[in-house]
Amino acid sequence: MKGNIEVRLTLNGEPRCAQADSRQLLVEVIRDALDAKGTRIGCLTGDCGACTVLIDGEVRKSCLVLAASIDGIEVRTIEGLEGIEALQEAFIAENGFQCGFCTSGMIVAAADLLKNNPSPSPEEIRRAISGNLCRCTGYESIVEAIHRAAQGSV
Ligand code: FES
Ligand code: FES
Repeated sequence: MKGNIEVRLTLNGEPRCAQADSRQLLVEVIRDALDAKGTRIGCLTGDCGACTVLIDGEVRKSCLVLAASIDGIEVRTIEGLEGIEALQEAFIAENGFQCGFCTSGMIVAAADLLKNNPSPSPEEIRRAISGNLCRCTGYESIVEAIHRAAQGSV
């Protein structure tokens, strides 16, 4: 898409700028213009959570943010999340993914949960990932993985 605006943002701690069309979505700018492909595109309607990132420290769906509104924001994607090794290992240990399409969004949401609540209950884990859909796992293994990472029993 031809860019008609220049956007400046901080992506994973680095100042970046990109040409974008003002109707483009943040997830498209992240993936296409800034080449951070860890963030997935699923529905583009705010339903699946595949595009989940942190914006100014808050969990957000990057398909619901227009390029025209991203100037000056701070975005952290799966590539720039620190301290997620335990979560990654727990997802592997608990078979918390199959196709993996939802996984980066799940881990962004889970990492934010554990940062704010290091010992979440299963209900709190389910609530934290309630905006993230998985078509493969049935969720039990994902909840178990996040619980395992929280307990440090990886
Ligand atoms: S691609 Fe953003 S919520 Fe589905
Ligand atoms: S592992 Fe396939 S959608 Fe979640």
